[in-house]
Amino acid sequence: MDRETETILIVDDNPQNIVILEMHISNLGYNVVKAQSGKKALNYIYSEPIDLVLLDVMMPELDGYEVCKRIKNKDETRFIPVIMVSALKDVEDRIKGIEAGADDFLSKPYNKIELQTRIKSLLKVKRLNEELEQTRNVIYSLATALEANDPYTHGHSNRVSNLSVEIAKLIGLSKKEQKTIKEASILHDIGKIGINVSIIHKPGPLTQEEYSVIKEHPVIGEKICSHLKFAQPMIPVIRHHHERIDGKGYPDGLKGEEIPLHAKIVAVADAYDAFTSKRPYRKELSSEETFSIIREEAIKGRWDRDIVESLYSIVTKGFGEFESAGITIK
Ligand SMILES: [Fe+2]
Ligand SMILES: [Fe+2]
Repeated sequence: MDRETETILIVDDNPQNIVILEMHISNLGYNVVKAQSGKKALNYIYSEPIDLVLLDVMMPELDGYEVCKRIKNKDETRFIPVIMVSALKDVEDRIKGIEAGADDFLSKPYNKIELQTRIKSLLKVKRLNEELEQTRNVIYSLATALEANDPYTHGHSNRVSNLSVEIAKLIGLSKKEQKTIKEASILHDIGKIGINVSIIHKPGPLTQEEYSVIKEHPVIGEKICSHLKFAQPMIPVIRHHHERIDGKGYPDGLKGEEIPLHAKIVAVADAYDAFTSKRPYRKELSSEETFSIIREEAIKGRWDRDIVESLYSIVTKGFGEFESAGITIK
């Protein structure tokens, strides 16, 4: 985004304070919009692209804390930096501000240089966050675009993601881990971008040689994501989702406990989705048929037996919940 087009919203019930703040930042070249109440401020924020908010604390009706909370509780607006401006210097007020999610604080009377420096640095952080968000979106779009043209794998990553999260919940993993699993499973096959499309879309069983090319996708996926900071927690899933408990998997031949838990979960969800999806050379299998294969293979050492049973209990628990999550039980 162009620096000149960035818009700062000044919120204060006292118009004189607005004038002072506006004067202090007038040489920076930002667009400035103003609101004299918390309600008007939120109307602006929900309807216009605002890049930063200078927010008075003490206002009638909706005070600054409440406005800040509402900005930070909404996905679409939570990345907008909020600087709370106040005549109060109390530690307690600052704590309230931090709890409301404020990014910075300024006390009246303002120091012009301090105000300008804080605005510039918060806008810089916002720009970096937006760039990061765009990179994330590109990577996720690539992962789904990869499947979009193939009727046999269309929606595969999303279904694997939904199933993996359900397993993670059932075995008691934290919300943070559930989020990592959710995102990692969307990217688990991203390395297929580096594999020849004619092999990926081949309508029939693969030759040995083709299979060994396909087996490179976890390592390619890791390479794609290795320079992306946000993707670091997902790399164990991307690299290890084809390992086997008995050590006969790839790419590293890890065994049992050596395989990261997240990767073991995604591996089971991945297998379930593959069996219950149609392939050019076979029809989709039912849930029961799939579990009889997966269970047998798990006993032989292919997948983690407890995770297989967790998935079984999830899939047999009830269809309604899954259909609402976009999973079709066959
Ligand atoms: Fe894979
Ligand atoms: Fe997969």
